[in-house]
Amino acid sequence: MRRKLVIANWKMNGHRSMVDQLLAGLQTRLSELSVQVVICPPAVYLDQAQALLKGSPISLGAQNASEHVTGAYTGEISAQMLREFGCDYVLLGHSERRSLYGESDAVVAQKTLAALKERLTPVLCVGESDAERASGKTEQVVSRQLSAAIEAVGVEAFSDIVVAYEPVWAIGTGNTATPEQAQAVHYHIRQQIASLSEKIAADLTLLYGGSVNADNAAELFAMPDIDGGLIGGASLDEQAFTAICNAAG
Ligand code: 13P
Repeated sequence: MRRKLVIANWKMNGHRSMVDQLLAGLQTRLSELSVQVVICPPAVYLDQAQALLKGSPISLGAQNASEHVTGAYTGEISAQMLREFGCDYVLLGHSERRSLYGESDAVVAQKTLAALKERLTPVLCVGESDAERASGKTEQVVSRQLSAAIEAVGVEAFSDIVVAYEPVWAIGTGNTATPEQAQAVHYHIRQQIASLSEKIAADLTLLYGGSVNADNAAELFAMPDIDGGLIGGASLDEQAFTAICNAAG
């Protein structure tokens, strides 16, 4: 279902007392939510976050999941385990996973399948690098990343998937895409899905991520194909994240 959605990706940041403080603060500030808010803390804090968010409208998500169900995969965490710790969402194919940990389109597609089997909502991240944009390959790269997932799970499954467009050059750089640049790629993504199913495309929730902050969120979220944001750095700041959530509402 297409909805307004803001997701916090804390990445590898935080500690126990910060989790307590930030989640308590956000619950107070976001008590009258008009958007769906999801917090993705590091996996070791999911248990703590699950307890703190009990009864709250804020949902819990993870930053990654294995493509495997169980077995000898040292260091990995399965979708089933994430479910047990209260996760409803999981980020998959984040550019940091793709570039730093070698996750291919095929692996991300298998992870998407594994997450869906456990009824987690995959947040499928796509986006081009600086060099790819400079050489005019943005749409080609995003389409390739999207196609791999469509082939693995089928277009119908996209009624249970959120897609996040995160241009690599905008992540953590302060160089956010302009609303027009982001809108153009979001439109392209929705059209690619529409070429297979207009209904699924119309219902698809599409997030923008990459240096979203309290000052630029409203104009990004005002674009017709941008349904919310995937927020990194600014999600660690209670005030900034609250402002971003309100901008989506
Ligand atoms: P920043 O908001 O810090 O640029 O990070 C974006 C991101 O990677 C969210 O997943």
